[in-house]
Amino acid sequence: MTKHLLSISDLGQSNIIRLLQLAYQYQNGETVFGMVPRNKILATLFFEPSTRTRLSFEAAMLKLGGSVISASDLATTSCAKGETLQDTIRIVSESYADIIVVRHPEAGAVADAAKYSAVPIVNGGDGNGEHPTQALCDLYALWNALDGELSGRTVTLFGDVDNSRAARSFASVLFKLGVSTQYIRYNDFQPRSWRDADAIYITRPQLERKGSEDIDLDSYNEQARKAIQEVPDALIMHPLPRTGEISKELDDNPRSIYFQQAKAGVPIRTVVLAYLLGIVQL
Ligand code: CP
Repeated sequence: MTKHLLSISDLGQSNIIRLLQLAYQYQNGETVFGMVPRNKILATLFFEPSTRTRLSFEAAMLKLGGSVISASDLATTSCAKGETLQDTIRIVSESYADIIVVRHPEAGAVADAAKYSAVPIVNGGDGNGEHPTQALCDLYALWNALDGELSGRTVTLFGDVDNSRAARSFASVLFKLGVSTQYIRYNDFQPRSWRDADAIYITRPQLERKGSEDIDLDSYNEQARKAIQEVPDALIMHPLPRTGEISKELDDNPRSIYFQQAKAGVPIRTVVLAYLLGIVQL
């Protein structure tokens, strides 16, 4: 049966730990799996904007020895003429690509499309649904920062968390690893209950999603600033892009690990590709 990565629920706890360990070894120059032939092709189909997810998957495939084809704008594909995502996936998977990463504005659309695929599909973010590889990058950065000691920790998720697929998937993976989560939603600021957090995960307002369009940015950014101040020892996390909720002054603070989260993109996604292409087991 074709393996996909559509949700964090597709991976068990031991798979996740092994994935982190392989990414660490790979990042440190160890040979943990072979290369793929140049005629193995990754297709990236991105129907929403992306910098990190698309480019890190493409870099990962190129580093693995394979090749990449890409559609980064819905308007330049036949979807703009009314072709369904299911038909698009059928065509690309049966004729062009050995593995496909899809980002789509509708929650559930990538999982539905996977039913029509002859090759592995990775969910590169579906609306306010899931973003499993972002969660793995976030977890990897946290795992490194805490020297591999995750069990019994607490992470606070701050902001527009209900519409953030990154926060949703991160909460799922933390739960699997025995990390407690607490939520501080925008306009529900109760600092006293969450002072013991080991990390605070700030999300941006998801202005492109229904229900988040009217968020007041100044007030959101002010609440984020206060939240960070309330947990002076916690690591500061953010899946990026940031839009004002984390100031540049925090960039050199040793608590800030958001650029490490982004840096995890290539090693984590290389292992994900290697696993789904069958050159390494988890
Ligand atoms: N965190 C994240 O998904 O970034 P991109 O939207 O740039 O891919």
